Amino acid sequence: MCGIVGYIGHRDAFPIVIKGLQRLEYRGYDSAGIALFDGNSINLSKTKGKVEDLKKKSKEISVAGTLGIGHTRWATHGVPNDVNSHPHYSNSGDLVIIHNGIIENYESIKQALINRGYTFKSDTDTEVLINLIEEVQKTEGVKLGKAVQIALNQVVGAYAIAVFDKKKPDEIVVAKLGSPLAIGVGEDEFFIASDASPFIEFTNNAVYLEDEEMAIVRLGKEIKLRKIKNDAVAYPNILELQMNLEEIEKGGYDHFMLKEIYEQPRAIMDTYRGRLLADQGIIRMAGIDQNIEKFVNANRIIIVACGTSWHAGLVAEYIFEDLARIPVEVEYASEFRYRNPVITDKDVLIAISQSGETADTLAAIKLAKEKGAFVFGVCNVVGSSIARESDAGAYTHAGPEIGVASTKAFTTQITVLTLIALKLAKEKGEFSGSKFHEYLTELETIPAKVEKALKSNDLVETVAEVYKDSTNCLYLGRGYNFPVALEGALKLKEISYIHAEGYPAAEMKHGPIALIDEQMPVFVIATKKGHYEKVVSNIQEIKSRKGKIIAIVTEGDEQVKELADHVIEIPETLESLTPLLTTIPLQLLSYHIAVMRNCNVDQPRNLAKSVTVE
Ligand code: M6R
Repeated sequence: MCGIVGYIGHRDAFPIVIKGLQRLEYRGYDSAGIALFDGNSINLSKTKGKVEDLKKKSKEISVAGTLGIGHTRWATHGVPNDVNSHPHYSNSGDLVIIHNGIIENYESIKQALINRGYTFKSDTDTEVLINLIEEVQKTEGVKLGKAVQIALNQVVGAYAIAVFDKKKPDEIVVAKLGSPLAIGVGEDEFFIASDASPFIEFTNNAVYLEDEEMAIVRLGKEIKLRKIKNDAVAYPNILELQMNLEEIEKGGYDHFMLKEIYEQPRAIMDTYRGRLLADQGIIRMAGIDQNIEKFVNANRIIIVACGTSWHAGLVAEYIFEDLARIPVEVEYASEFRYRNPVITDKDVLIAISQSGETADTLAAIKLAKEKGAFVFGVCNVVGSSIARESDAGAYTHAGPEIGVASTKAFTTQITVLTLIALKLAKEKGEFSGSKFHEYLTELETIPAKVEKALKSNDLVETVAEVYKDSTNCLYLGRGYNFPVALEGALKLKEISYIHAEGYPAAEMKHGPIALIDEQMPVFVIATKKGHYEKVVSNIQEIKSRKGKIIAIVTEGDEQVKELADHVIEIPETLESLTPLLTTIPLQLLSYHIAVMRNCNVDQPRNLAKSVTVE
């Protein structure tokens, strides 16, 4: 869950690495560091805190060098402080490493190295790895690339690493297992990064390493990949990336999160563009079309995901069962992978992940594949590990999501999953032609309706002002909007640090109702379609206990207005599409509350965007 950046070429490496780290800061922001090499001496600077702190600190040292590596850290081993920050030197001072991942057997290796006279400055597993590489170099008399390979065959864990050797000024050695690593290929220069955002302004050509691959990135030479285990040569697939710089900058918004909330009309449209052909009455999705029998004949669909993606999976459970009549189970990937689940070759597993790198989701996929299930990935990041590991899949096309709190990832995941459910419903004959057509045309209206829902921003801001100092909040919804209640609560928790819980509205009377008093804000999703009368009864129960009611209602609603302290309207749509609209004011609400509480909206404490550790 750290970000790594490297550069080797003809330019000054410092600004490239620093800017690259800033773009990867969403991956972790406990500490940051950089090492620059000018062919003679290494300049290394690191600090607890953000890349901005590193930038200030680095001004005090000489920062020249056309080879550089940098790291932004989400701490696993060792508290976040200057010493534990990356890069790390080997004992000789010749080798320098950055690492994203965890070396699980580092303690036994460390002890063996201590017995051989090595000393350690930090508490990190990474310093152990670089000294193991040095020890291999010495004892085996091999060059850096070979030493890295031998050392990696001795470690257990996950890594994306970049290492250079003072004696080899024209090369950086990189390797990957379980953590992402891309190489940007320019003219006489190479870039290394956890994703393509640090180098997209320099080159569109990228090679994504597969697990258990390594490469010696050498100036003047083509990239050669090797399998770490058996040394077999692998041929790099150079991809041409579509990402552009504008997508990864704030574009006038104060925060990435706000920009991404406002991007949702466009993002949803991009998700169904070329797939939803309402005038022809078809949905075209290659990953489904080519595997339609697997889905139609599946005993059940298992959805695995984490966090917000898991909430999108819960929405999908309602859609798949309601429309396509296929049984669905939604699982936390972290639980699924460790509970010896019953999986057969008649199961289809859908893995949902914005980043496509979430370690638990990736492990769940591998387990399901071993047991013969067909695996379908729904990812946003193109070329990500989950996308590559899946048998087939569909990208959400949301564009880069940089704010740690997922927003457009959620709505575009729901859009893709709705398209799949509709397609399967049609294929299975669950729909009449006219009902299918009604869904397709309504889905096409969603971007405009999201746009309208965003117009509630000023009203939501005034509501945020009233409840910004609350210490607890409840979120209630039923049916399709129960997962939206969970998602609303997660958004508030993660960026404003207010305790919040989501519940199915009817569950309130089984316990949570005891919490309700005049201090308790309760956010209730009470749209006209979907158990409306029952939710109104729940609202009455809250009101009679003096709870504060903030209701998300269908425009024109009068009944809830009478009962609630605040109402926020969303446009009317089909029940199964309401999550795409009801979630908008809840995203805005958590955003404004976090801003009012002076929280770091885009980089909330203790979190990281891409969770590549268990
Ligand atoms: O990249 P993924 O979708 O697999 O990430 C899953 C969760 O880590 C993620 O949704 C997390 O819960 C977000 N911070 C939610 O806003």
